[in-house]
Amino acid sequence: MPEKYPDLFTAAFAENPLPILQALRANNPVYWLDHPQLQSWIVTRYDDVCTLFKDARLQPILLNSNMGIQPPEHERKELQPIRDGMGLWFSYLPSERHRRIQQVLRRYFTRKVVNALKPRVMQIANELLDDIAEDQSQNMLDNFSYPLPVMVIAEMLGVPISERQRFTEWSARISQIFLPYDYVCHKDAQDAYLQMQAYCAEQLLFKQQEPGEDLLSVLGEAVDKKLINMEEATASCIFLLFAGHQTTARFLSDAIYRLWKDPELRSKLSDQPDKIADFVDELLRFQGGPLATWSMRQAKETIEFKGHVIKKGQTVLLDRTAANHDVEKFSCPAQFDTERGNNHEHLTFGHGAHYCTGALLAKMELEQALSLLLQRYPDYWIDEEKVNYALPMLMVKKICNLPLILKPQK
Ligand code: HEM
Repeated sequence: MPEKYPDLFTAAFAENPLPILQALRANNPVYWLDHPQLQSWIVTRYDDVCTLFKDARLQPILLNSNMGIQPPEHERKELQPIRDGMGLWFSYLPSERHRRIQQVLRRYFTRKVVNALKPRVMQIANELLDDIAEDQSQNMLDNFSYPLPVMVIAEMLGVPISERQRFTEWSARISQIFLPYDYVCHKDAQDAYLQMQAYCAEQLLFKQQEPGEDLLSVLGEAVDKKLINMEEATASCIFLLFAGHQTTARFLSDAIYRLWKDPELRSKLSDQPDKIADFVDELLRFQGGPLATWSMRQAKETIEFKGHVIKKGQTVLLDRTAANHDVEKFSCPAQFDTERGNNHEHLTFGHGAHYCTGALLAKMELEQALSLLLQRYPDYWIDEEKVNYALPMLMVKKICNLPLILKPQK
């Protein structure tokens, strides 16, 4: 008789996933979750998660956030355009098409380009901090952690500064498509999606005429050379905004909060900014998130794995958070230890063919933003009682309000 585990798709799990994941890893490392809303296998050991990340018989799939709700037919039809658009997000395309688009993007996301972006990221972060009044409680999410990654993506794409506010709005509206089904929200997400799609298509045409050093120009050139088509190029712009915004923003908020809770570490990093990279990696390892604890796959064929039969069409959750807390890989995993030598071996950016395209960029952004904050405001203060969270189903705990006071240095 297989062991029964508490429901993994609840607020209680989002609040504290580690004990359940640890029990799964120890007793049922490959486990069939017979859940009415998401029947799936969940895999929790580091080595197994790595192996399956590299298994080409497993295909990434997007979470269907309808959570068992079947929208009426006319609403489904209305919302077809956003499904068609997201259907071109390259991660979820067949492997040959995925590789072709990924190769184009990888030309841009190099260490050299990321290093060259550092001064601009620093400048954007500085300007955001300049706009925050000192000595007053401000929600750091609205003023710093959420706008920064959007502005960096817009910078990278080569979008005019005047248009960047629209990116922030589009990102927030499009992300509603991942909330449980509600026609009004999903329709608004679609309206934003279509606006951004039209805007990116227009910008791509412009960059084909007047190329620059930016990512839209790289995509425009790839369209000219017929490496990708126009629809794939515009879909990739929106996918990058989706993949790179909330993820980085949430980690930045978590990092600011964690450093506030640990004044000793904060003081150490203020004095030794070269240690911030290790802190970022350890936070990435520790959290494993940022949106869900796992990456989702679908079996393209029946697979035998560790004595289990994963049938064609079944869903597999590769649990990054559980893998990052596997004691066989990371000693004393529940301890937050920036000095552990192997913290960068976490799976928070995935592994294998779908390894995060923006991993270098995300780490650079987090490092720059934190080093600037600690340099300018090493004594920042958080109004602890007003910090609040959302515990969305299927997702990880998310800070919604981070009231922070920037105290000028004496
Ligand atoms: C802390 C921030 C970030 C985290 C934790 C993160 C995490 C991840 C993970 C786990 C995957 C693999 C998903 C899977 O295998 O199912 C992924 C893929 C991806 N990420 Fe990130 N990401 C971050 C930031 C970014 C940024 C800044 C960008 C770009 C602007 C980006 C672009 C992408 C893309 C395009 C993919 C798809 C890669 C592929 O399928 O080939 N990510 N990310």
